[in-house]
Amino acid sequence: MSHDSSLYAQRRAALARHLGPLGVAIVPTAPERQRNRDSDFPYRHDSYFYYLTGFTEPNAWLVVQGNGSSTLFCQPKDLEREIWDGYRLGPDAAPAQLGVQTALPVTVLDEQLPPLLDGADAVWYPFAIHHQLETRVSTWMDSLRQRVRYGAVVPTAQRDLCSVLDEMRLVKDAHELDTMRRACRISAGAHVRAMQTSVRMLRAGEDLREYHLEAELLHEFRRHGSQYPAYTSIVAAGANACVLHYRADTAPIRDGDLVLIDAGCELDGYASDITRTFPANGRFTGPQRDLYQLVLAAQEASIAATHPGARFTDAHDATVRVLTQGLMDLGLVDKTQYNSLDSAIEQRAYFPFYMHRTGHWLGMDVHDCGSYHEPTELGHSHVRKDALSNQPIVNRPARILRPGMVVTIEPGLYVRPAPGVPEAFHHIGIRIEDDAVVTDVGCELITRDVPVAVEAIEALMATA
Ligand code: GLY
Ligand code: MN
Ligand code: MN
Repeated sequence: MSHDSSLYAQRRAALARHLGPLGVAIVPTAPERQRNRDSDFPYRHDSYFYYLTGFTEPNAWLVVQGNGSSTLFCQPKDLEREIWDGYRLGPDAAPAQLGVQTALPVTVLDEQLPPLLDGADAVWYPFAIHHQLETRVSTWMDSLRQRVRYGAVVPTAQRDLCSVLDEMRLVKDAHELDTMRRACRISAGAHVRAMQTSVRMLRAGEDLREYHLEAELLHEFRRHGSQYPAYTSIVAAGANACVLHYRADTAPIRDGDLVLIDAGCELDGYASDITRTFPANGRFTGPQRDLYQLVLAAQEASIAATHPGARFTDAHDATVRVLTQGLMDLGLVDKTQYNSLDSAIEQRAYFPFYMHRTGHWLGMDVHDCGSYHEPTELGHSHVRKDALSNQPIVNRPARILRPGMVVTIEPGLYVRPAPGVPEAFHHIGIRIEDDAVVTDVGCELITRDVPVAVEAIEALMATA
């Protein structure tokens, strides 16, 4: 991975300012995880740790002190282990490479943490993320307490480090946006490749399965340097698209099916997240086109609602409005049951066909960190009764969008057979998902290297 240590040093300095002069932050990276017997899952670092170090080796910890100095604990050099597992940076080379003031072997972590905490007013670490980290911190504090009569001062507060880092990560810097744009370009190319493969294989009369298209996605991700998919790819043929968390499986993809693909690569620690729904044979049928155009119109309304100063929920509200009207117009929702569009929305008439939110933050994690509530207005909550479930729902003012935030915009419709739902629409599942950077004036879609309009998809597939 590319490495400009000054970027990470700036982030650590910004974190130190939040901690106050006597605060200390402890950030572990992710553990290695066993898959089965002696095989591990592919290793993926912790996103907070990477944000502050750019370091991807396992078995490492970062300690940042409020005075601005940082200490890295990392795997010691070990020729035998490096022969088996690969290169280790090691503590001697780490300060020059990563810009930390001090680096020590991780083997001395338990010995070194109590003195690093001595005199701190608060110890900060990510709450409820790392198994037994709380216990580990308590053990270090306890060990420091044993030394009180020799002058040790034990921190009196524990604070959730996520509350600070989540806010920092929510607004992406130029380096992050550049990486995300590159990740999105790769993913868009992978979707194009899957569309083309689908129509080619069907034309050739081959037995096309969901996994064939998944293989095309993975090939395209990897050949452009992506380390892994950002999440498990969904490749859903026909009715499988109505299962929200479906995964690419063995189902045949037939002439006349729609295919829903939700897949994005991770590049240098950053996720992309794209969904396209297309006709396997390259031509939408009438009902498929009607529903597709409706989802696309909803997405356009949501894109228009994504700009600085808008609330995070505005995009969802815009989608719901367009979808509800369209569902009534196409006869999937019985409009005689409602006095007005507003009352249909209030009673969530759309919900049997659209049951998820329209977006989420995107960044190092596909569902990235960051509060969805406006921090300056947290006290302004009110409780209302949900018309469908009758359950109380606490409404807090939604986050106000600012330049540099990145959101997905992903409306969909999923039609299961039900009384009153026209048969022509049964088993159609459609989602269209793009990634948007909030700019100074609106938003920039960074995933549009794969077409989204009906005519553009059909044209692309016709020339495959
Ligand atoms: N691919 C995960 C999501 O769209 O939220
Ligand atoms: Mn998404
Ligand atoms: Mn997605």
